[in-house]
Amino acid sequence: MLTARERHVEELAASLRARLIERRRGEAAAGRSVSAPLPEEVRDLVEGEAALLGAEDRSAVEARIVRDTIGLGPLEELLADPTVEEVMVNGPGSVYVERGGRIEPAGVGFPDEEDLRNAIERILAPLGRRIDELSPMVDARLADGSRVNVVIPPLAIDGPALSIRRFGVSRPGPEELVALGTLTAGQVGLLERAVSGRRSVLISGGTGSGKTTLLNALSSFVAPEERVVTIEDAAELRLQQPHVVRLESRPASVEGRGEVTVRDLLRNALRMRPDRIVIGEVRGPEALDLLTALNTGHDGAISTVHANSPGDALARLETLALMAGLGLPHGAIAEQVQRGIDLVVHIERRGDGVRRVTEIAEVVRVAGATAVRAFELDDGG
Ligand SMILES: Nc1ncnc2c1ncn2[C@@H]1O[C@H](COP(=O)(O)OP(=O)(O)OP(=O)(O)O)[C@@H](O)[C@H]1O
Ligand SMILES: [Mg+2]
Repeated sequence: MLTARERHVEELAASLRARLIERRRGEAAAGRSVSAPLPEEVRDLVEGEAALLGAEDRSAVEARIVRDTIGLGPLEELLADPTVEEVMVNGPGSVYVERGGRIEPAGVGFPDEEDLRNAIERILAPLGRRIDELSPMVDARLADGSRVNVVIPPLAIDGPALSIRRFGVSRPGPEELVALGTLTAGQVGLLERAVSGRRSVLISGGTGSGKTTLLNALSSFVAPEERVVTIEDAAELRLQQPHVVRLESRPASVEGRGEVTVRDLLRNALRMRPDRIVIGEVRGPEALDLLTALNTGHDGAISTVHANSPGDALARLETLALMAGLGLPHGAIAEQVQRGIDLVVHIERRGDGVRRVTEIAEVVRVAGATAVRAFELDDGG
């Protein structure tokens, strides 16, 4: 049984927490980034709203709000484990993790769907995001840069599906990728010359093959004097350069307003006097704007695309640009691809979890058509 005082602390914490969530949602809807770190914001809130409470009760209320807001149940131990790279929840009883590139059962679970839903709400609420029948899929980014995706029933048939891709404070650089077996020394040399020489580089690969990680590593070859603009759906990149402007797209609100796409951001970025544009992933009509930019003097862009081979990557870029719907003839777009993209770097994830760059190809014109020609590197790359 709770004492009257405990019950009061609990009720107060619940109502203040609801207010906190509303406030953060309001901030997010207005496009303002979330203000203070959570514990500080909670302290301010409690001091403002429960000033008459004794110090001891106040800190009990604070602790309760923080616990209920960031308490993640069985996920907590997984997220505290630095070797866990990805957490995948496929309903309350099915939790997997990825460690060292391998997926394995996590050995934990949620008691029921309700508990899993609560944990999901606790992850999303402080970010100012909500998930419900109207918007049953959410992509978000945690304060530490980790990426979160949630899909709930009825779209997810066996219960809410949650994926968290974690990013440590630092991302592997080119040397670390050599140590991991991803790149050979010869490939690093080639890519360094390409990026610092302002060639446009497209990284291709499947889901989770390490495209974003490789993009991040290649960005280290951008000269420190350059003004870099990065554009992403969820800001995952960690560039080391001093002069970087980071832009992140935004989904539409529940009322269907306020969407800002990667394409919108790219068009805006071109007016920001960028020396270098880095697009996290090309997967929509921004392909056309990127090609136009590359053909009108904005050289040296770096991006990634989901594709099965370098040739496939170019074909996909063409398809995306064609779908942007300006009615441009295929030949014109193919020509823009061929003139705009210099190199395609293909990365693959092997069964044992090792990521390897399997091909670096240059874009050439053969018999009037766009083609790729692999570089032969004598160190086996
Ligand atoms: N070179 C690498 N060696 C080993 N593991 C890697 C390597 N690169 C990335 N990883 C791991 O693979 C996972 C996916 O990496 P990353 O986000 O770079 O892939 P991606 O291809 O961009 O994925 P997506 O298709 O979801 O955008 C991460 O958990 C990361 O820790
Ligand atoms: Mg990626």
